Amino acid sequence: MQINKIYLWFLFLFMITIAACYYDKYNQIYPPDAVLDCDTAAISYSQNVNAILSENCISCHNNGNASAGVALDSYEQVKIFVQSGAMMDAINQVNGIAPMPPGSKLTECDIIKMQHWIDGGALNN
Ligand code: HEC
Repeated sequence: MQINKIYLWFLFLFMITIAACYYDKYNQIYPPDAVLDCDTAAISYSQNVNAILSENCISCHNNGNASAGVALDSYEQVKIFVQSGAMMDAINQVNGIAPMPPGSKLTECDIIKMQHWIDGGALNN
């Protein structure tokens, strides 16, 4: 009986110790600059998507220099790769697609904006 009480006491202390180690700062799980400060209100092709692509992709993907046959100058051209899924796979750097941009990655907020635009129907707006 005595043994059982000591055992339970240690079990209790052990559980408290484990519980005390749980560490979940909200800001570290969801970095504020990445998710909380990302303004996804009124994302449009002309205001946001085109700017992200111009800044990060167009130098290698334009009509004069279309790496891998991918040109992203116009909405119609962008839409092809959005619909095939290659755009978000390349940006998210998943599913065996060549990671884009090569050697770096878009900011979390830019990726969220792209996804937001696509979720809204990838409109020419
Ligand atoms: C420095 C030049 C460069 C930049 C900047 C660049 N790309 Fe690429 N991209 C390439 C090259 C080269 C390939 C072919 C890579 C391969 O097949 O290994 C490619 C391939 C692709 C493909 C086809 C991938 C596949 O496997 O089918 C897509 C889609 C793409 N890029 C989108 C983008 C997007 C979107 C951006 C901007 C976020 C971007 N790229 C930025 C050079 C670039």
